[in-house]
Amino acid sequence: MRILMVASEVAPFVKTGGLADVAGALPRELARRGHDVRIILPRYRAVDFEKYRMLPLMRRIQVDWGGETIAGEVLRHAGPASGGIPVYFVHQNFLYDREGIYGTKERAYEDNDRRFAFFCLASLYALKAMDWAPEILHLHDWQTGLVAPLLRHHRNLCNDSFYFGMRTVFTLHNLMHQGMVSPEIAGRLGLPWSVLTPEGMEFHGAASLLKAGLVYSTRVTTVSPTYAREVQTEEFGHGMDGVLRARAHALHGILNGIDEQEWNPASDAHLPAPYAADALDGRKACREAVLEAFGIDASDRTPVFGVVSRMDAQKGLDLVEAVAPQLVQHGARLVLLGSGLTPLEDAFRRLAADHPGRIGVRIEHNVPLSHRVFAGIDALLVPSRFEPCGLTQMYAMRYGALPVVRRVGGLADSVTDLAAGEEVATGFHVPEHTPESLWTTLEQVLEVHARRPATWRRMVRNGMTQDWSWRTPAADYERVYEDALKNGDAPA
Ligand code: ADP
Ligand code: GLC
Repeated sequence: MRILMVASEVAPFVKTGGLADVAGALPRELARRGHDVRIILPRYRAVDFEKYRMLPLMRRIQVDWGGETIAGEVLRHAGPASGGIPVYFVHQNFLYDREGIYGTKERAYEDNDRRFAFFCLASLYALKAMDWAPEILHLHDWQTGLVAPLLRHHRNLCNDSFYFGMRTVFTLHNLMHQGMVSPEIAGRLGLPWSVLTPEGMEFHGAASLLKAGLVYSTRVTTVSPTYAREVQTEEFGHGMDGVLRARAHALHGILNGIDEQEWNPASDAHLPAPYAADALDGRKACREAVLEAFGIDASDRTPVFGVVSRMDAQKGLDLVEAVAPQLVQHGARLVLLGSGLTPLEDAFRRLAADHPGRIGVRIEHNVPLSHRVFAGIDALLVPSRFEPCGLTQMYAMRYGALPVVRRVGGLADSVTDLAAGEEVATGFHVPEHTPESLWTTLEQVLEVHARRPATWRRMVRNGMTQDWSWRTPAADYERVYEDALKNGDAPA
């Protein structure tokens, strides 16, 4: 199959969260399975031009935006960084050569409608200019949602046989970010006003780029089976649950995998020493490296908890903040690597200042250090309010740290609680979103760590030896693609 991945971030080129990990790793597995896969993303300032060599592919690509012509170009990279997969970058200085990816620390860029509209339409024009017609366009989150209505309703595309038969699969990674923009986007982009109905992309009087993807794509997937059910409920639906229920027959939940080469403690160049499930000695050096990096004192027997996370409302770090003093009173240690909302960053800086040597905090985005944290801690805290999939709990398990997770979304699907028996358990579930519930679970974690070392070792082994690869999920996506090709398009 010919498959184009359209994504706003792709590891290792540019990453703010798990979406980049998925958009980087899934194409590699699909390519290994024999598909012709290519990737397209914007070329932001953060993409290292020197490191990833790029060649000009198309000198001029023009999009009409409400009577104004926006011109950009397309660059191409195919090298070891993408596993040899062709990666196209939509280059437009004014739109993408900025400090941030989606906005500044304080707010989203006001012209994100134009930035991502240009990206979507330019990506579609680029296909024709290079005369490569994918059968499947695999879209990810709101930034790429417009591709689906553009293919069906844009005058330059819907009457052009080059685009006939292309099918779209939209993967929902996060329902909280809905790409709300002015309804004027339709007119500016040359879409008929009919897309602005409640059956189309209209949402609360505005337009939602996420809804555009959900409504107009041939098939919709989300990144875990539990999240696929949750998004159809009022509690987790962020107002879109009705839209998702209406598409329930076209909606599939596929649990993400991880890139097992990138995330392998036996060969990870970021670690001070390698180790594996049956040879854990190297983990001691990894632990020492983390303690040093975070300024923590601990004996061999002290449990060290960690957090690696974006710091926003989704991640439930207010619960960690609430229990952290108790945790260190009970002799444990805590390290946090993250960045995001200023009040949360400040709260954790204060915690570190109040508990020197016991709580260590690094407010930064640091991928090599994140690898060392998973390798050096005993347990990872992921108390998310909601979690479409979550990757850090998988990295933790693969690296021998036990995850302590809220029982929601992909966390529930990937972590098996000790209640299921130590032969299969890989971590601990926190049943409710309250500090009390987290603390009750942590008491159990501390107890198992202190008094049941054989159980702990067994759980570590279970997590490290589980298959977290993309093999099964890639085969599931293949089936969704085939179904989209065979069984036709969405009703809208
Ligand atoms: P989300 O996409 O909602 O942020 P995921 O768990 O799916 O959650 O993915 C988060 C990704 O970002 C993981 O690869 C994680 O290791 C990485 N990450 C989060 N915070 C940091 C940080 N401060 N430094 C480095 N990597 C981080
Ligand atoms: C989103 C979700 C996260 C998921 C990631 C990759 O950012 O918040 O749960 O793992 O996408 O699918």
